[in-house]
Amino acid sequence: MNRSMILGTGSAVPKKILTNQDLESMVDTSDEWISSRTGIKQRHIAEDGDTTSLLAAEATRRALEMAGVKPEEVDVIVVSTTSPDMIMPNTGALVQKHLGAYNAFGFDVYAACAGFVYALTIADKFVKDKPESKVVAIGAELLSYITDWQDRNTCVLFGDAAGAVVLSGTNDGTRGILSTHLHSDGRLWKLLHIPGGGMVYPASAEMVEKRDYCIRMQGNEVYKYAVRLMTDVAREALTANELGPDDVDLFIPHQANIRIMKKVAERLEIPLDRVYVNIERYGNTSSATVPVALDEANRAGRLKPGDVVLLDAFGGGFSWGAIMLRW
Ligand code: ACO
Repeated sequence: MNRSMILGTGSAVPKKILTNQDLESMVDTSDEWISSRTGIKQRHIAEDGDTTSLLAAEATRRALEMAGVKPEEVDVIVVSTTSPDMIMPNTGALVQKHLGAYNAFGFDVYAACAGFVYALTIADKFVKDKPESKVVAIGAELLSYITDWQDRNTCVLFGDAAGAVVLSGTNDGTRGILSTHLHSDGRLWKLLHIPGGGMVYPASAEMVEKRDYCIRMQGNEVYKYAVRLMTDVAREALTANELGPDDVDLFIPHQANIRIMKKVAERLEIPLDRVYVNIERYGNTSSATVPVALDEANRAGRLKPGDVVLLDAFGGGFSWGAIMLRW
């Protein structure tokens, strides 16, 4: 059977680090509160000159290098982001320019923290359609530009990062992406959204003054849905592949909160030593968390050919999804 397989992974973060101690001087918070409630110790934050497309291109260069694929051999670039360089053009076209991948076409997918799972699902379909093609799926975010640095409820959570994978077809029946599972429920949009800057509430001096271009979240409500829906979709992926928790070699959940990850793993009965966690170093980087974690696990030698890997993400929309693959 023809499946798509990950040939290379890459990631990149801005140089600047903002620690919990730095945040203590910005808002009424403490390292103790942030660490115990979220698991986060520090996050990387963009400086002048950093852009989402440049960070995405850097992560992709690393993935292409590992895959042994040249930029001119890339056919499709799918970028997931909620923090694009501009509303127009799309980030995929800019990543194409930075890489010199002029034989490819690029476009963006927009599903908040679940975005990478959406991007990888779309990339998988392109490869299934044309197995010899080389398709890149990216999750890239500079959330620091849409974070309200005066709101302690949200500003301690987010960070900036990009992660990428390169896919192509394989005839090796034992490896590749086994199944993809996507969901959304637009009725719940208000619990996690950015009110301003779109066409409903366009840019204005008042909008900027109220910082309504920033992320607004009812954290405890989001928390409950995240635990339930990430568990449900992971079970859906396990059932579809007739696999149980013991078969999962590595579970890579969206890194939004260590407590969410632990609860989901507990409900799935996947022990914590098989759950990839790096939230302490990056915070919640939205659609970049899963590909960054995948790249770290890959480069650290935690993935062997044939390993079962379960990706699981949840975010604004609400949007959520899981992907089961055999490494
Ligand atoms: N420092 C100190 N105190 C704080 C801070 C802070 N940074 N933030 C909130 N508090 C206070 C609150 O004001 C509240 O005080 P009160 O009891 O006097 O009113 C108290 O801490 C508890 O607040 P809660 O919101 O109930 O805290 P909770 O334990 O729920 O943790 C958190 C908040 C971390 C946001 C959690 O709810 C969470 O992780 N939610 C899910 C986030 C998520 O999964 N997002 C996923 C997608 S993100 C995306 O798509 C971009």
